[in-house]
Formats: sequence, structure tokens, C-alpha cells
Amino acid sequence: MTIVLGIESSCDETGIGIVRIESDGALTLLADEVASSVDQHARFGGVVPEVASRAHLEALVPSVTRAFAAASLELSDVDAIAVTCGPGLAGALLVGVSAAKAYSAALNVPLYGANHLPGHVAADTLEHGPLPSPCLALLVSGGHTQLLRVDDLATKITEIGSTIDDAAGEAYDKVARILGLPYPGGPPIDKAARRGNPDAIRFPRGLTGPRDARFDFSFSGLKTAVARWVEARDGKEIPVDDVAASFQEAVADVLTAKAVRAATELGIDTMVVSGGVAANSRLSTLAAQRCAEAGIALRVPRPRLCTDNGAMIAALGAHLVKAGVRPSSLDLSANPGLPVGTVSV
Ligand code: KG4
Ligand code: ZN
Repeated sequence: MTIVLGIESSCDETGIGIVRIESDGALTLLADEVASSVDQHARFGGVVPEVASRAHLEALVPSVTRAFAAASLELSDVDAIAVTCGPGLAGALLVGVSAAKAYSAALNVPLYGANHLPGHVAADTLEHGPLPSPCLALLVSGGHTQLLRVDDLATKITEIGSTIDDAAGEAYDKVARILGLPYPGGPPIDKAARRGNPDAIRFPRGLTGPRDARFDFSFSGLKTAVARWVEARDGKEIPVDDVAASFQEAVADVLTAKAVRAATELGIDTMVVSGGVAANSRLSTLAAQRCAEAGIALRVPRPRLCTDNGAMIAALGAHLVKAGVRPSSLDLSANPGLPVGTVSV
């Protein structure tokens, strides 16, 4: 049995996860501690990098202590450490990478610089077991919106499409601002949308024309359309619930339509949806419906594993260990622009 410690600090969540690789190769999640600085960013309407870095610095060691207490383990039980080394905010990443190097050197255990994006996909293996090969991952977060072909979580991930402008979560956050809802915008829009009519307003579905890039996304036109629609009310009351529901329908429609088309065209019969926006109720419902119609098995981790956390990095670390991937050297550095295909550094 091997104990893997995972450290995540790419954005505004300090995540510490502990995963055990069982003798049969199965993964068991032993601890998943998350300290969020989201409240400190709310009044700015987005993450303030310097504030996030400082919060990571304060939260990291206490979160490690809580995680080991929750798992009833000691630091000396750790066999390997995985840390998010990109993509993300440079200063925020550096806090996690520095801590991970220190633990690795002090405990004399291997260190794996891991990519945050495959980490989101790895989170699902904690809940639903090993992924079949190949599978298609729809990664939808505040910073990324991508379709990935996953042949091997530890070694072979290929991007087949991505957003050409805003990420899906970013669109949620911007539209929430337009509607006077709090940051981050996903949860309050999701809630308002449940009371609204998704057919009230027909918002545009970006990049769905016959000549558009088949597997790429665009959400900036949708955000602008919502802003124009609200402006055109010219002081009249805004039906927030209907706007939220109609916006959410447009996002869920495009994401699921493109993902199902990609899986069908590539002949892939399993889809994983992960990242913060995968916690969205309409996205998971529509994905379930369309995947069932297309004969695709759908996997969506529970919301807690969809948003940023350390368990997903511990899980990816466990897959790296199992695959026999070479550990990182102690001169590992943070790479804010790490490409998704580079699973470990
Ligand atoms: O994966 P994540 O926690 O962080 C990044 O790596 O970006 O994703 C955060 C994003 C935010 O934009 C937030 O508004 C969105 O996920 N989000 C949601 C929901 N919960 C979080 N979007 C739609 N519906 C939700 N229920
Ligand atoms: Zn993320």
C-alpha cells in the first residue's frame, strides 16, 4: 500500500488530499481538506492573485495538519507527493510547489509536479474507479473549457477542442455580475435558473454554425448578448430567474451537444465531465439525457470533487506512481501556462 499526498494551490483553493493505493491498485480517498479564499475575492468580482497567494501561505500547513488528523496518519507515512505545478496563477502555484519540495526533501520521498487539468479528470477515478481507455473528458472550470481525449490519465492526454475566448465558468461569473448576483456566479445562477424559464429568451449558441470549428467553444458572444438584453430593458425590472435559466440553457446546450458529437465522431463510449461547472445541475441533467440517447456512459464526480481540491491531485499522483512515471527533480518550478498534454513535469 502506498500513501500519496496531494497539494493544490493553483487558484483560490488550498487543497490537501491523501489517497492510498491499495494492493489491488484501487484508490481510496483518506482525506480531502479545502481552505478557500473566495470570500476575500468576492468584493472584487474575481480572484486577486496577490490575495490568493497570501491566503495559500496562511492556509497550507494548517490544512496539511487537518488532513493527516482526518486520515489518522502521520507525515512519516507518506510515500509520494504530488503537487499542482500548472496551469494557474504563478504566485499561488509557487506556494504549493515550494511546500511540496520541502516535504519531499524532509521526508525523502519522490515528488511529482502534476498538471491541474488532468487532475480534474483523475478526481472521477476516486468515485467511479479506473477509466476505460479511451474516454472523452469535458473539462469545464473558471479558467478552462476543453474537450480531451484521454488514452491514459498518467501519460497520454490530447486536447481536441477548447474555448477560443471565455471559459464556461468565467461566463457564469461575468453574467452573475451583470445580473447583480454574487461571485462566484455559478452557484447563484444555478439556483436562480431553477425558478426561471429556460425558453424565455433564446440566447446565441456560439460556434455551432456548420462552418465553425467542430469541437471549439466560444462564450464571449453569449455574455455580450446577455448584457445587451439587460441593457435593452432600459431601467425596467430584470426577470433575473428567466435570464439566468435562459443563459444556463445556452451554456449546457452547447457544452453537451459538442461533447456528445465529439465522442460519437471519435467512437468513444465513455464521457467524464469535471471542473467547477460540472457541479451545475442543468449541465449534468442534459449531459445524462444526451449521453443516454447516444449510448455513451457518463461519469460526473460529486460536486465536491468537481471544484478545485487536493484529492484530485493526490489521485493523479497515484496514477503517476502506478504508471511508473519518473518523479520530478527538486528544481521543479511552477508553470502558469502548462499545456494540458504535459500531465507531469
Ligand atoms: O474548477 P474550479 O473550482 O476552479 C477553476 O479551476 O477554475 O471552477 C470554478 C468555476 C467558477 O467559475 C464557478 O462559477 C463555477 O466553477 N461553478 C459553477 C457551479 N459551481 C461552481 N458553474 C455553474 N454551476 C455551478 N453550480
Ligand atoms: Zn480547476
